[in-house]
Amino acid sequence: MNQERVFSLRNPWFTVSVGGTIAIAIVGILIGFIWLPSASQSFGDRGLWATICSAAGAPSSWYGGSNLTGPAPSNVVVLPPLRRARADANSSGRGATIATQNCSMCHGVLGTVQVTAPALAGQYADVVYKELRDYQNGVRQNAIMQPIIAARSDQDLHDLAAYYASLPRAPAAETLPTGVGPDANAVKLAMQGDPQRNIAPCAACHGPLDRKGAAPWLGGQSSIYLAAQMRAFASGARRNDINEQMRNVARQMTPAEIDSVAKYYAAMQ
Ligand code: HEC
Ligand code: HEC
Repeated sequence: MNQERVFSLRNPWFTVSVGGTIAIAIVGILIGFIWLPSASQSFGDRGLWATICSAAGAPSSWYGGSNLTGPAPSNVVVLPPLRRARADANSSGRGATIATQNCSMCHGVLGTVQVTAPALAGQYADVVYKELRDYQNGVRQNAIMQPIIAARSDQDLHDLAAYYASLPRAPAAETLPTGVGPDANAVKLAMQGDPQRNIAPCAACHGPLDRKGAAPWLGGQSSIYLAAQMRAFASGARRNDINEQMRNVARQMTPAEIDSVAKYYAAMQ
């Protein structure tokens, strides 16, 4: 069969397939741009052109930059992985000295969980450094930590971060009753999130699936601390998360979900 005969209007296969493709495209355009949008209630208010634009993905109003009010966000830029392959031994040594004298009464001698303060052992260095910087500039507010860290030099903060990152991770802070598995909803939120509510899986930022810069490891922390931090993000009392990563998640969660996810992570190492 030669080519001229294939691409010829006299070839019925050619006419039927090209004609069919064009017909399907026209029907698709009519359905996608006119019929489906017109089923939406706002069709009457907006008119045909606006509906076609919104069906094509154009926003109905452009961001004007006018609602940028409120306190300035955290100025710490974290470029992962700040955790060096092998932390400088001198740096962690200096960090250990400062920690023993100033931090261990609350955070524990080996940085494992205490009743009152979060566990720091094995926490990522970029997290410890960022949180300390945020307490220092008042971006994260806390009556206990702010005065403790106020006069520390930047080198001290790096040393403390290197020290805590070099410790082995704290064991699980809480255990589930024997025979009881973790709450299925908590596991789902942690590993799959809830796309309908714009909740990304916790594990995609906090590990173990993947990790975003400055997202803390949550295992080994008490459920009381974890839930309190999530509530603080939800209410906006804590707002040092870059680009509102955590506030956007916490705002979507119900109080029961916050408690169950907190228990789930508290039982993890
Ligand atoms: C008097 C008790 C106390 C002492 C001493 C103390 N901390 Fe804390 N620390 C806390 C409490 C309570 C929190 C939780 C504060 C909050 O809710 O923001 C905290 C939070 C932190 C956090 C944030 C942890 C996270 O997961 O977000 C870091 C990092 C930290 N402390 C490091 C230190 C270092 C380093 C020192 C020593 C220089 C120190 N702390 C001394 C009580 C203490
Ligand atoms: C898009 C990434 C992202 C997702 C998804 C996410 N987080 Fe976070 N989360 C962060 C970051 C980043 C921080 C640290 C904010 C800061 O202090 O800079 C954080 C902080 C936290 C803290 C405070 C920990 C501490 O030690 O101070 C808790 C608790 C927490 N997240 C729980 C969760 C839970 C539970 C989920 C799932 C329901 C979740 N997060 C989902 C990015 C995320």
